[in-house]
Amino acid sequence: MPQSVELKLNGTMIELPVIEGTEHEMALDISKLRAKTKFITLDPGYVNTGSCKSAITFIDGDKGILRYRGIPIEQLAESSTFVEVAYLLIHGELPRPKQLTGFSQRLTWASMIHEDMKTFFSGYPAGAHPMAILSSMMGSLSAYYSGDDDYKNPKQMDLVIARAIAKIRTIAAFSFNKSRGLPFVYPEADLPYCANLLNMFFHKPTRPYHIDPEAVRLMNQLLILHADHEQNCSTSTVRLVGSSEANLYAAISAGICALWGRLHGGANQAVIEMLQRIHKDGGGVQKYIDMAKDKNSDFRLMGFGHRVYKNFDPRATIIKKACRRYLEHVGADDDPLLNIAIKLEDAALADDYFAERKLYPNVDFYSGIIYRAMKIPTNMFTVMFAIGRTPGWIAHWKEMIEAPEFRIGRPRQIYTGPVERDYVPISER
Ligand code: CMC
Repeated sequence: MPQSVELKLNGTMIELPVIEGTEHEMALDISKLRAKTKFITLDPGYVNTGSCKSAITFIDGDKGILRYRGIPIEQLAESSTFVEVAYLLIHGELPRPKQLTGFSQRLTWASMIHEDMKTFFSGYPAGAHPMAILSSMMGSLSAYYSGDDDYKNPKQMDLVIARAIAKIRTIAAFSFNKSRGLPFVYPEADLPYCANLLNMFFHKPTRPYHIDPEAVRLMNQLLILHADHEQNCSTSTVRLVGSSEANLYAAISAGICALWGRLHGGANQAVIEMLQRIHKDGGGVQKYIDMAKDKNSDFRLMGFGHRVYKNFDPRATIIKKACRRYLEHVGADDDPLLNIAIKLEDAALADDYFAERKLYPNVDFYSGIIYRAMKIPTNMFTVMFAIGRTPGWIAHWKEMIEAPEFRIGRPRQIYTGPVERDYVPISER
């Protein structure tokens, strides 16, 4: 591969260095292009733009490959835990036993939120979307832990990381408890992360929650599958907000907002709502396949398609298998929404429109059916995604602020508005 390529612009030859990643992805370094030529590059939606170098996650969208720090997602989902994967993403290596114990302990110690914050939950209207609560409560952590921002101090870095991962779960659980008019359930010191999460969601003083190992295993799997996905919309948001040196809680709060949209993490809620709509409509899928193909309709098949995967989404393959296993385990394998999802997937995969555009089920297509079987309500699905994605957001933020080339993110634009003109006083308009 050449070290650089030449670009001829206005009669001048410019040399653009070639950058090659460890998996042989190629890029042209255009960082000096404007300084040398006054040209910028234009790429709406960043379809073709690399915003950074990163050693965290590798995706080959044509082959359906996803690896965290080099380790295939299939192996992690099968054998690891969410906490171990969080450590791997953030620190670059699987933890040794002592490191894992230390990390888990920090998560336990950091899992409470300030007691005063509990009063916030009463300020939201009944029916408030839990993503609205989650984003504002995460941002509010900056008010309570404002001294956490000496990120060059490794101890402070460890503490702020533990606080973010541990407290997002507590906030999510408290907002769930509150939405059902139930008392807050505190984290237990001797429960691992996912068992604790389920307990905080479902334990009632009058009806103790029996921790089902199968549900714990599945929760670990789901959070692992959501833990990182390189430069997606919310992670890029976390990087951009963090690049102004805003604190980590503020950056994560912004990431939660970016995740909320139905084209990104909000798709898991949108999938179930779509399947419910089809169910109400008699269960026939062809009408909805036709609507998704119709350019005059704004209906899209939610849970289908991906900017990067043009073959299959390996997370969807794992989730589909896990979904069947768990539904059988809890005796919910006759869920009509599961049958509609399978019919919809089969019909879409057999249709030229979807084949030509390489549209396959993504991570969100089956995850909602599992959450439903776990008795997690639809409007909490994207919150679950956010809990899972938090270690990925942190890993990217940390990688960015520690990189030698760290600087504020600031894209350029091509201005297309009016050229200079005079102000007209209101009496003359
Ligand atoms: N249903 C019907 N048509 C679709 C769909 C869909 N779900 N997705 C893409 N297309 C069509 C689109 O209309 C376009 O057709 P044409 O070339 O004729 O104009 C073509 O496929 C390319 O689509 P695009 O919108 O240019 O692709 P994109 O890379 O900008 O968008 C996407 C990717 C995921 C936003 C999109 O596929 C989509 O809206 N999917 C549904 C929402 C969804 O499931 N999102 C979750 C993504 S995975 C998890 C995550 O990132 O959080």
